[in-house]
Amino acid sequence: GAPGTGKTACLSRVLLDCKDKLAGSRTVVLNCMALGSPHSVFPALAQQLGLPVATGRERIRSLEKHLTAQGPMVLLVLDELDQLESKGQDVLYTLFEWPQLPSSRLVLVGLANALDLTDRSLARLGAHLAGKPQLLHFPPYTKEQLTLILQERLGQVAGDPILDSAALQFCARKVSAVSGDARKALDVCRRAVEVVELEVRGQTLLKPLPRGE
Ligand SMILES: Nc1ncnc2c1ncn2[C@@H]1O[C@H](COP(=O)(O)OP(=O)(O)OP(=O)(O)O)[C@@H](O)[C@H]1O
Ligand SMILES: [Mg+2]
Repeated sequence: GAPGTGKTACLSRVLLDCKDKLAGSRTVVLNCMALGSPHSVFPALAQQLGLPVATGRERIRSLEKHLTAQGPMVLLVLDELDQLESKGQDVLYTLFEWPQLPSSRLVLVGLANALDLTDRSLARLGAHLAGKPQLLHFPPYTKEQLTLILQERLGQVAGDPILDSAALQFCARKVSAVSGDARKALDVCRRAVEVVELEVRGQTLLKPLPRGE
C-alpha cells in the first residue's frame, strides 16, 4: 500500500490483539529502513533470535538451520520491505524461500509500498516454489475513513473540540483527493494547531500585563 494507508498501524494492532495467541511463539519485528544495507537483515535477525555470531554464508546457513529445527513458530515481520531490494534480489529470495523449506517454522509478513514488489522482485519464486506470498492490498483511505480517524484521534483530547467538524471534513476531503494518506491528514491538523498556538502566543506577548506588572 501507499504511504500512510495504515499498514504499520494495522499490523501493530493485530500483534497486540493476538498477544495471547502468540505467547508461545517468537515474534521478531524489524524495520528495514533502520538497516544499513539489505544484507544487514541477516545479522539483525540472528541477533534477535540469539544465534551465535557468524558471517556471510555461514550466518545464512545457521539461520536456515534454526528456522527448520524443532521449536515454536517464528513470526518475522519486516516493515519497509522495499528497502531489501538489491541487485539480483538475493536478499528477498533468501527470505521468501525460508517459509517454504521443509519443516520450516517461519511465518513471514512483509510490509511494502510497491504493490508489485513480489511479482517484480520475486518472479522466480512462483516458478519453483509451492506457494507464492499472499498479497493484502491497503487502498488509500476514503474521505469518510479519514474523517473517522481524525475524529477518533482528536477525541482523545479532553475538553472542547480542538478542530471544527467542518474543518476536519475539509481536511479529510482534500487529503483523500490527493493521496488518502492518514499521516498527511494528521500532519495537516497538527500544523493547524501549531499555527493557532503561535498566533495566540504572539498575542499574549503583546498584551499589557494586568495591573501594570
Ligand atoms: N485505521 C487507522 N486508525 C487510526 N490511525 C491510523 C489508522 N491508519 C493509519 N493511522 C495513523 O496514520 C499514520 C500513518 O499510518 P501508518 O504508519 O500505519 O502508515 P503506513 O501504511 O505504514 O505508511 P508507510 O508506507 O509510510 O510506512 C500513523 O500515525 C497511524 O497511527
Ligand atoms: Mg509503515
